[in-house]
Amino acid sequence: MQGKRSFHNSRQSDAYMTAPNPIDAIEEDHALQLILCNVLENVADGLPAEVDFKCLGILVPVLRVGMPRQMQFEDDVFFPILRERVSIVFRTCEVLEQLEREHQADQDYAYELADELELLEQRRAPWNKEMLGYMLRGFFEGQRRHIECENMIILPLAREVFRDSDLQRLHEPMTIDEFVLGGRLSLRTVLKVSNPTG
Ligand SMILES: [Fe+2]
Repeated sequence: MQGKRSFHNSRQSDAYMTAPNPIDAIEEDHALQLILCNVLENVADGLPAEVDFKCLGILVPVLRVGMPRQMQFEDDVFFPILRERVSIVFRTCEVLEQLEREHQADQDYAYELADELELLEQRRAPWNKEMLGYMLRGFFEGQRRHIECENMIILPLAREVFRDSDLQRLHEPMTIDEFVLGGRLSLRTVLKVSNPTG
């Protein structure tokens, strides 16, 4: 694509942007979210006695900051640009609307889960093991389905239809918007849990 060639030469030294192409950067954030899902699954499997309580202090801010901001970025920046390029493809717009509804529900879910994990960290025991396990599994299973859909349908579509100017518009908030930067930085902290020596 005409856009991608020139784009790879720009601003590669950005502090929080490891992937030079912003669509790759979104895919990278999705990979971090999937790591979070794996860590949450470990917590669910370890309830009540085998939980690594130290990791909860890292997971709670990721659920309150990293995940919600990443979803907000997709809603506010990524999807609107994609809509401009695929507005005549009716089904794509329906898929985007569904993903936006999931973002809203999942942001609320992430805050509730963060509150529960914070309580678990403080009390060192779940007030209701079955309920917390159910919440954790509902969250990470839903997230995996959501991210798989975006990785299999939305990101490849964007790679096909985005022009150079679209990539620039997508890239800019990742480098100058404190809300977006803070969210991406927060997401990366999950690596401390999945790979404590990394
Ligand atoms: Fe999403």
